[in-house]
Amino acid sequence: MSNVKIMEHPLIKHKITVMRMEATGTGEFRRLVEEVAMLMTYEAISDIETTDIEITTPIEETSQPVISGKKPAVVPILRAGLGMVNGVLQIMPNAKVGHIGMERDEQTHLPHTYYCKLPPQIEERLVIVVDPMLATGGSLCDAVDEIKRRGGKRIKCMCIIAAPEGIEAFTKKHPDVQLYIGAVDRCLNKDAYICPGLGDAGDRIFGTVQ
Ligand code: PRP
Ligand code: URA
Repeated sequence: MSNVKIMEHPLIKHKITVMRMEATGTGEFRRLVEEVAMLMTYEAISDIETTDIEITTPIEETSQPVISGKKPAVVPILRAGLGMVNGVLQIMPNAKVGHIGMERDEQTHLPHTYYCKLPPQIEERLVIVVDPMLATGGSLCDAVDEIKRRGGKRIKCMCIIAAPEGIEAFTKKHPDVQLYIGAVDRCLNKDAYICPGLGDAGDRIFGTVQ
């Protein structure tokens, strides 16, 4: 599991605990998703490319590092991944944004892709796929398949909560992709929901809980 990084920061752990609480309402939940995404992005781009440039300080000329290469792309898996986008953009305001629309069938739990639009020259960009929940892993596996089919090469994924089943399925299918996880939970239930989890992330972000 060398390509899986689990977040250790106490602030991330605290925020995820509050997200899990049934009593946490839509506004606060949405804000926490964004904040956790921001903190995870800081970790996920710690190896981003830099190049040295010549600058002049008030004291002297010097060679110092700046971030180089084409602008990264953040790609949320709709709907719930949308909740993480602004958090990523707070750290990387110039990133491009793509979208992949996927929905799990409630009976089979298999994902169905209904939309995909990615920024141009995706093969030259660092692509960060975001989705708060990694349950069976089906949605993330298919999303990364789709990005690879369209030329994506340098891909990282960020999920706030993951089930062990999803991590195993994903790392088997995409061993070349780095996975950043906020917290690893116990297991999936018979409806393929993460336990203890936080319920349906999309419904909690958008206030569509039935
Ligand atoms: C949720 C979640 C993931 C997927 C995870 O989306 O946001 O995309 O389920 O499950 P998996 O790992 O078993 O594929 P959902 O299909 O509920 O759609 P939504 O974001 O529109 O609510
Ligand atoms: N999708 C969610 O939103 N929550 C889960 O627990 C599993 C899939």
